[in-house]
Amino acid sequence: MSLIETLSQTRDLPDTELTALLTTDKFDQELFRRADERRREFYGTDVYLRGLIELTNYCKNDCFYCGIRYSNARLERYRLSLDTILNCCNTGYELGYRTFVLQGGEDPFFNDDRLVEIVSAIRTHLSQKHLADCAITLSLGERSRESYQKLFDAGANRYLLRHETADAEHYAKLHPESMSLEYRKECLWMLKEIGYQVGTGFMVGSPFQTMECLIADLRFLQQLKPSMIGIGPFLVHRDTPFNEYPNGSLSLTLRLIAILRLMFPYALIPATTALGTIDPQGRELGLRAGANVVMPNLSPVEVRKKYELYNNKIHTDKEAAENKALLASSVAAAGYAIVTNIGNVKPDCPNDGHSQCAGHSQCVDAMY
Ligand code: 5AD
Repeated sequence: MSLIETLSQTRDLPDTELTALLTTDKFDQELFRRADERRREFYGTDVYLRGLIELTNYCKNDCFYCGIRYSNARLERYRLSLDTILNCCNTGYELGYRTFVLQGGEDPFFNDDRLVEIVSAIRTHLSQKHLADCAITLSLGERSRESYQKLFDAGANRYLLRHETADAEHYAKLHPESMSLEYRKECLWMLKEIGYQVGTGFMVGSPFQTMECLIADLRFLQQLKPSMIGIGPFLVHRDTPFNEYPNGSLSLTLRLIAILRLMFPYALIPATTALGTIDPQGRELGLRAGANVVMPNLSPVEVRKKYELYNNKIHTDKEAAENKALLASSVAAAGYAIVTNIGNVKPDCPNDGHSQCAGHSQCVDAMY
């Protein structure tokens, strides 16, 4: 059996064989073809949408790669008001978005009380309009268990928190001493225990990353079994300590997307903004390598430029939520179709890909 067939059937390979897949392009064609087959078994041609609302670009952290880091004094900071957030959700709903992702830096202004007010207001607002078919996703970094619980109780369903790298030494080279991989992982486990559908992920080609780091990322994902896995190339930002490092690679990111699809066939895998930024066709290539989610930007147009995690972040074209027709046609050209629904993760049914699972215990586990 070929390496890729074994990966597809067993969802696993030894480290050396994963490394072999990652370090040459000779497997690419078969890898992408098999990943696409696998995504179609689980998700057909469906591409799920998430409307991204960038709540705040204030951040107390000082991650060396990130443009909204605390020490970047050149960035104009902003916070969205509750009214603005509700407006974004309204516009999004009209456009066919059924998941709202509130993403932001770790901004102490957004304490539990303020966030609970926001999440509850979105829920109330949606239910008054009989819009119960929506998910609220938060992506607001590391918080306490108590805080995650309060936000869940207020009506949040999903949480995105990338681990960034699963190698502790590498983590320490990307982050200041005040941050630790250990607490990041602990947050992810807490979120799962509370009942969130959890998304995590990592950057590809961040400074000091080795093949061993990437293998550690895959092994950590095997333990955590997240619902969503988001990866994108590292992209340089001029006002960070990493301003002289090269961007990550498009082809390595695509290869990793395909490997993720084969290891986690049930997973939600976004074709990320970073992928769309590194190459004009990046998102479409991501979909063809196994991705099945896109996250267009629903933030008010005037703040989009300010949420600059890396330079040249795209924000006015097909990644803009209001340009849905443009997005729809580019997704269609890649061979898929965007759908209007909540876009939940598929149960990881023992009969791979059988989508109407009645609830095997493994399936229920996979749903969290
Ligand atoms: N390049 C690519 N991705 C980045 N992120 C932050 N900074 C960069 C960068 N310079 C990613 C991180 C974070 C997500 C919201 O954006 O992985 O978790």
